[in-house]
Amino acid sequence: MTLDQPPPEDPRPAPENLHVAVIMDGNGRWAANRGWPRLVGHRKGVERVRQLVEACPDLGIRYLTLYAFSTENWKRSTEEVLGLMSLLSRFIKAEAKRLKKEGVRLRFIGDRTRLEPKLQRLMGWIEAQTASNARLFLTVAVNYGGRDEITRAMRQVAQRVSRGEIAPEAVTDAVVTEHLDTAFLPDPDLVVRSSGETRVSNFLLWQAAYSEYIFTPVLWPDFTPETMRGIIGAFLQRERRFGGVKP
Ligand code: FPP
Repeated sequence: MTLDQPPPEDPRPAPENLHVAVIMDGNGRWAANRGWPRLVGHRKGVERVRQLVEACPDLGIRYLTLYAFSTENWKRSTEEVLGLMSLLSRFIKAEAKRLKKEGVRLRFIGDRTRLEPKLQRLMGWIEAQTASNARLFLTVAVNYGGRDEITRAMRQVAQRVSRGEIAPEAVTDAVVTEHLDTAFLPDPDLVVRSSGETRVSNFLLWQAAYSEYIFTPVLWPDFTPETMRGIIGAFLQRERRFGGVKP
């Protein structure tokens, strides 16, 4: 760049179109702290999801991606796994009307083939019901793992290469991106994790390559829209350079 060129544009997205991805952690501890079963924490967690979804337009969030069930979560007790699946079904049924009315497009990422057929049908149903909405893009990760997603994408790309549809040299970053579950989403600007844990836990491994991470000690059942407002404020203070240097 020569000095007579204008400085590059500030790469920060306008605050009204943020993509925020959330690892909703701490439900179990929240319940245990009160001597309650873990599922009570998850139930309270769903309430927080509802509130956050409602607050998103006001917070400048256009894309909200939530980690509801990981490929590793099958290791939990049958009771907890079934409880989480049932919370998810109930959320879809109970929220369908409101999501439609409020312009929320709900989609799922992750490998659905391992889920109950009834839940798979419900997921497909709500996706179709909200397909024409565009005010808020809500994406829920169920049986999702970043490595599993990349592996499935690679398998598809390999099949296309072996059929002669793509030359190996034509497999670019963009081709990989197009085969991921998140092909319809921009990369997250910000990944938030609640409960004080500072791990990525296999969430959006490819997509979050340049995302900011903010970890908060707040347990998910205590996470309010105001908690998110504070986090977004901190995010907007950060300077994002995408591997470049300060202009
Ligand atoms: C992590 O807390 C939370 C989960 C594994 C489940 C998150 C799911 C929900 C909030 C409900 C379903 C979501 C929707 C969108 C309806 P943890 O159990 O690992 O907590 P701990 O680390 O304190 O044990």
